[in-house]
Amino acid sequence: MRLNAEGWDVRRLVRRPAAGPDEFTWDPAGGEVPAAALAGVTAVINLAGENIAAGRWTEPRRRVLRSSRMEPTRALARAIGGMPRPPEVFACASAVGFYGDRGNLVLGEDASRGEGFLSELTAEWEQAGAAVEASGVRWAALRLGVVLSPEGGALARLLPIFRLGLGGRLATGKQWMSWISREDAAAAFVHVLATPSCRGPLNACSPGPVTNADFTRLLGFVLRRPVAFPVPAFALRLGFGRMAEETLLASTRAIPRALSATGFRFGQPGLEAALRLELGRPRVGS
Ligand SMILES: NC(=O)c1ccc[n+]([C@@H]2O[C@H](COP(=O)([O-])OP(=O)(O)OC[C@H]3O[C@@H](n4cnc5c(N)ncnc54)[C@H](OP(=O)(O)O)[C@@H]3O)[C@@H](O)[C@H]2O)c1
Repeated sequence: MRLNAEGWDVRRLVRRPAAGPDEFTWDPAGGEVPAAALAGVTAVINLAGENIAAGRWTEPRRRVLRSSRMEPTRALARAIGGMPRPPEVFACASAVGFYGDRGNLVLGEDASRGEGFLSELTAEWEQAGAAVEASGVRWAALRLGVVLSPEGGALARLLPIFRLGLGGRLATGKQWMSWISREDAAAAFVHVLATPSCRGPLNACSPGPVTNADFTRLLGFVLRRPVAFPVPAFALRLGFGRMAEETLLASTRAIPRALSATGFRFGQPGLEAALRLELGRPRVGS
């Protein structure tokens, strides 16, 4: 893990039984954080949240998406706020979904919130984390773009389809997609912990957002597979409803102004290099 490699001593809050001395079992729904987990820590990182894109946003699913973010965040913020010697920083995962579907607009951190379930949820989630500022704790929300990893998330789901040569752009393919390599996502958290000027919302996405058509073309190119099968918008809406509307079809062109202004350097600023790294497909001849 990146934090261990950087010399941090990491403790983990897990919902299952603890598997070692560095793990602490918690029940976020119960609202309690084991005091021993937080005692003496410098920083708290909050990544909790059920997968947004795992399926249709039925009413029960929306409740889970919301509670899996709000309960852990509120519990952590309350616990941090009640500590006589709180940590220096509370760094929370957030999402570029905050901005919603914004066409070609270039979105820095000062852009307004978008419309829809995801934007509202993200704003509420951020507010819950920001509560620690009242106790003088630095709060940062990393508005992540799609994190590129072959082990989970959007890329992992696309890989089998693209490997079969059945990949294709989604709808017109003109929608912008903000993305970040897994390496850079981890590095951005480390940067935020170590940089006192990193506070409030920070776009955690590469400086090179791409359209869905370009993403599709590059993924096919890196995998050396054709991408001949566009998926029509109506099929996505039929299959996934609002989830498709607010994620797969939404256009979000965020840029990492705050991270760049505080000296963060992306290891993989370009999509092709990021895909090659994450998929273990170095350029032939390099
Ligand atoms: N991956 C992306 O592309 C992406 C993009 C934008 C934003 N984000 C955000 O970044 C965060 C981490 O993403 P990820 O892809 O690493 O997610 P992940 O691998 O699915 O991990 C999610 C974490 O949330 C915890 N969790 C799930 N349901 C929970 C619940 N009901 N109560 C408490 N904790 C719960 C899980 O805890 P257990 O270990 O206990 O199961 C797990 O540690 C998420 O909040 C996600 O919304 C991710």
